[in-house]
Amino acid sequence: MRTLLIAGNWKLNPTTAEAAALLADGVKQGLGSATDVHVALAPPFVFLTKVDQVLEGSPIGLAAQDLYWENNGAFTGEVSGPMLVDVGCTHVIIGHSERRHGQGETSGQVNAKLKAALAAKLIPIVCIGETKDERLAEKTEEVLLEQLVGSLAGLSPEEMAGVVLAYEPVWAIGTGLTASPEQAQAVHAFIRNWLTQTFGAATAGRVVVQYGGSVKPDNAAELLGQPDIDGALVGGAALKAGDFLGIIKAGQDVMARGK
Ligand code: PGA
Repeated sequence: MRTLLIAGNWKLNPTTAEAAALLADGVKQGLGSATDVHVALAPPFVFLTKVDQVLEGSPIGLAAQDLYWENNGAFTGEVSGPMLVDVGCTHVIIGHSERRHGQGETSGQVNAKLKAALAAKLIPIVCIGETKDERLAEKTEEVLLEQLVGSLAGLSPEEMAGVVLAYEPVWAIGTGLTASPEQAQAVHAFIRNWLTQTFGAATAGRVVVQYGGSVKPDNAAELLGQPDIDGALVGGAALKAGDFLGIIKAGQDVMARGK
């Protein structure tokens, strides 16, 4: 059985360390010691240390929003896997669409970052997803295949089992448009099927595949109840502790029903 992972991607928010600490503390207090659903928070790099201090004693994981593939050297502005581990990170988001499309990040670069994350013993959350034009042109599977093959190249089945995937249709991110549970499940089944063919059924059965794109407390239960959706990568709704806790609660209810 796969345990759901609900991760909050704070993106370029909030503005101050104080606000970051408050938000993290709200989630910490609301979750308590519950571990029936895995939870992680991804603040901006500069707040990682602060949020790590706030989360002490809590089961909540700490995620970075990106990393670089080299460990050290002349790479201005970059942050490496060992540095993230040093400030308390357990997870790292890689290849978010805002980096693939906003910063021109390629699947080859995502692959290099993924290998660096695994070498640093961070749990990678690798994002994939099609744009609206690609979906309208019925190219969703073609695009996802390119991203899966390129981003996950060279991994052993054992390594793959420790990678989290996040399917985030770009047209649903921050737009209020959510893929319907059926639309999302269909893509998740496609991803699971590809994992089975590529890494074998045992590995495919272990890989956590999150859904992301306008997940909110009121649509989370239906999405998380789908057989191949194993959690959520949450943007906007992760910026209010109450909303994020509502999504976690939906996940806890789904797990309690014996997903
Ligand atoms: P959203 O963002 O929940 O605001 O749509 C999701 C994401 O980008 O991870």
